[in-house]
Amino acid sequence: EKGGFPSFMDKEIHDQPQAVADTLLGRLDIDGKLTLDEMRIDETVLKTIDKIIVIACGTAAYAGQVAKYAIEHWCRVPVEVELAHEFRYRDPVVTEKTLVVAISQSGETMDTTMAVRHARQQGAKVIAICNTFGSTIPRESDAALYTHAGPEIAVASTKAFLSQVVACYLLGLYLAQLRGNKFRDEITTILEELQTIPEKVQSVLDNDKQQVLDLARRNQDVGSVLFLGRHVGYPVAMEGALKLKELAYIHAEGFAAGELKHGPIALIDDGQLVIIVVPSKRGRDSLHAKVISNIQEVRARGANTVVIAEEGDEEVQEFASEVIYVPQTTTLMAPLLTTVPLQIFAMELATAKGLDVDQPRNLAKSVTVE
Ligand code: M6R
Repeated sequence: EKGGFPSFMDKEIHDQPQAVADTLLGRLDIDGKLTLDEMRIDETVLKTIDKIIVIACGTAAYAGQVAKYAIEHWCRVPVEVELAHEFRYRDPVVTEKTLVVAISQSGETMDTTMAVRHARQQGAKVIAICNTFGSTIPRESDAALYTHAGPEIAVASTKAFLSQVVACYLLGLYLAQLRGNKFRDEITTILEELQTIPEKVQSVLDNDKQQVLDLARRNQDVGSVLFLGRHVGYPVAMEGALKLKELAYIHAEGFAAGELKHGPIALIDDGQLVIIVVPSKRGRDSLHAKVISNIQEVRARGANTVVIAEEGDEEVQEFASEVIYVPQTTTLMAPLLTTVPLQIFAMELATAKGLDVDQPRNLAKSVTVE
């Protein structure tokens, strides 16, 4: 069932173009209107929500953090993202106007299930974004939006992450359409870009895998890896670090690049491997230039800088030990591409160390205890 791949994880990484395509399938009618059939929450309720809280754990929480940037931008509704186990044990400000979005691949994560119950007790409407039909979390929620990534067997989540981001984006665009805000005209363009993502993910797999494999083999003895990103690249950095911890048992941290000078830069010394996710040059607010200067800062202190950037970005080369290029897309779609080399890096590094990538030590696929 590994489809000729050496591990389930490898297969699932290669399933990603299909997982994204399947999550998009059938959700868009010919007039460009999104239909989320499973959306059983009344439209009038959705029109009046004044806050969204995303609850999830691990990789699913990083998908939520990516989505926060998009949903706030498109819907102009504040989005909080909280680890389910933290949400549950505080006294969150939740009203009938709060929409809680619970993201879970398995639908059986106990921490997330308990947080869903907690949210509903406070009167919130809960929508589950889930990959497993009929599992506990969608059953206990008011509505479910299924990701169609197919079964994910490897403990480390890969295709579920991409499809969770896509499902969250569909939800965000649906809410934007429903609420008729100023981004309504842009939605068609955004959806068109979303439809190009499967082939772009495929091109990352086709063009970058060997380079990332070589990179992983050369770095199999590193003691720690730092990942940096800004904006949507920040949760991508944290996801890259989580993959490396889980699979290769290497200390790894994901930082917001802007935070470097507030502390983490003290960690940099000769040879420290730093992987930097660079935003598009065509993106907003000169973020590109800021990240370039972050690369420069760590490089000046001896870091080995590996950069993930979009094709055509030549400016990054000056301060990069190595550049991994991904196809061009919009700022908000970039995580669907930049995450992929980080997944491959962790998998190949663990493989080079002789570790079992499908069943890392101490971990279970679905965490059904608190
Ligand atoms: O099934 P869930 O999406 O609720 O699982 C959440 C986390 O346990 C999960 O994403 C975990 O962090 C993965 N092992 C990450 O690769």
